[in-house]
Amino acid sequence: MYTVKLYNNIAKAGLDQFTDQYEIGDDKTNEDAIVVRSANLHDIDYNPNLKAIARAGAGVNNIDIETCTKKGIAVFNTPGANANAVKELVFAGMLLASRDIYNAITWAKSQTDNPNLAKDMEKQKKKYAGHELAGKTLGIIGVGGAIGRRVANAALRFDMEVHGYDPYMTVDAAWSLSRWVKHENTMESVLKDADFVTIHIPQTPDTMNTINKETISQMKDGVKILNMARGGLVNEEDMLEALDSGKVAIYVTDFPTPKLAAHPHCIPIPHLGASTAESEENCAVNAAKEVMDYLEYGNIANS
Ligand code: MLT
Repeated sequence: MYTVKLYNNIAKAGLDQFTDQYEIGDDKTNEDAIVVRSANLHDIDYNPNLKAIARAGAGVNNIDIETCTKKGIAVFNTPGANANAVKELVFAGMLLASRDIYNAITWAKSQTDNPNLAKDMEKQKKKYAGHELAGKTLGIIGVGGAIGRRVANAALRFDMEVHGYDPYMTVDAAWSLSRWVKHENTMESVLKDADFVTIHIPQTPDTMNTINKETISQMKDGVKILNMARGGLVNEEDMLEALDSGKVAIYVTDFPTPKLAAHPHCIPIPHLGASTAESEENCAVNAAKEVMDYLEYGNIANS
């Protein structure tokens, strides 16, 4: 029998299938494993018994990886389990960036007492006119990951041209990409032609500020940038400056800061990328399986 701590009951659904093998723990000093979503796990030194931590999600930057490495604590994540949810939010973001849907809806909602609504609606057509995704070029930074691949293949179905960059692409990942996705050898060659840039890489010390003054200067004027990955991948000050000058027409981010959220050309989303019922269940089930498989058999496999 193993003791597993569940933050916010996150993996309860997943662990229910292992009821004979685990009990829920709340004594911080003896849990065998922890399953966590967003809670901060940078203080785990207190538990000499801890063997594994599973993150029900892709990013592991809420976990103290250095201490885990030193102490031999296995860390799991579930990179594929929420990839579809994130992919869909990328397209919601691209559509919001292309069609002025948000302002148009806000206008329509303010017209509840307007007896001339039908006539006035016609007058809004020009004001809220937008652009189509078809025919535009999408540049994907991190095209070989679980999300990047899905975004690439879905963009082709919107009749977009897709260019991708990923220095760590595996052979499997390459095979799962349509041959219509153009894989570039440098990030710059993806950035220079893209009408939209979307970023799907983990945030690490090496990738912090990947989108900065210099990389933005390599992009087209009026580019639209999407970040559903992590806030630190984009330099806040450089982005604000690029939004002010119009170099970046729109920045859609799932990780807004107060300054970015306030900018008229930023579309801030409050970290909803993985927040669908399907994704939460997938992540919970996969995280639970990873932990139990490790505790029982010593298997190490992310999903
Ligand atoms: C992830 O890293 O996959 C997401 O941040 C998951 C979440 O929203 O908790």
